[in-house]
Amino acid sequence: MKPPRRNIEMEIVTIDGPAGAGKSTVGKMLAQRLKYFYLDTGAMYRAVALRAREQGVSPEDEGALKRLCRGLDITFQEHKQGQRVICQGEDITAKIREPEIGWMASAVSMKRPVRQAMVRLQRIIGAKGKVVAEGRDTGTVVFPRAKFKFFLDAEVAERARRRHREWVERGLSAEMKKVEKEIRERDEQDSLRELAPLRPAADARHIDSTGISAEEVVERILAVVEKASRLQVKPPRPSPLPRKRGRGRG
Ligand code: DC
Repeated sequence: MKPPRRNIEMEIVTIDGPAGAGKSTVGKMLAQRLKYFYLDTGAMYRAVALRAREQGVSPEDEGALKRLCRGLDITFQEHKQGQRVICQGEDITAKIREPEIGWMASAVSMKRPVRQAMVRLQRIIGAKGKVVAEGRDTGTVVFPRAKFKFFLDAEVAERARRRHREWVERGLSAEMKKVEKEIRERDEQDSLRELAPLRPAADARHIDSTGISAEEVVERILAVVEKASRLQVKPPRPSPLPRKRGRGRG
């Protein structure tokens, strides 16, 4: 007897939301619990931003960004200490976390050729299933047929506090007021852009993480995934994801 066909959409969890909502902490913990791959889509836009800065490419120059993305090889490697982001053989994990790169990533992510290239890579990675994807458009654009979609939000003051703590832990000095302003501006830019704006998918479940721990958020998501997985009775629908494989995840 043939084994039942895998329903890839049942194995994709998407978490979208604004900066500082706790998406990466929750995404990493959730991926670990589910033994899924953690796909940090923001890291990919940050990689583009980093290379653009290094090569003197303006975030406004679509042609140059397109050429830059064409040759860009971004992969993720799992290490005991956590996931590493590799671009053309270079470990760029630390470099892409600079606050300036976050802002530049938001700027380059507004450009069509950049989004096309990154979404293509993200779908190739997701086509293998068992993935927790995190970003701004993973439920709306990248994996619109994913079964488990979450939109994680928190009050702006709390998001700013979290981001501030992260920066201080990394030895960066920052004023709380400035962090909050940066977060507001980046959310506005990500939400108001024409292409793939930050917004919840119609079928996403909203979670407000204000005042609750990342562990609690993970438990809430797991409860939904576990319940629905047990209740999976419908036959799988044909997958819209590209079949092409070949790019390793890490
Ligand atoms: O999540 P992050 O801070 O690493 O993301 C950096 C920027 O990348 C974010 O401000 C907007 C962009 N981004 C995007 O446009 N789409 C995604 N799916 C993820 C990030």
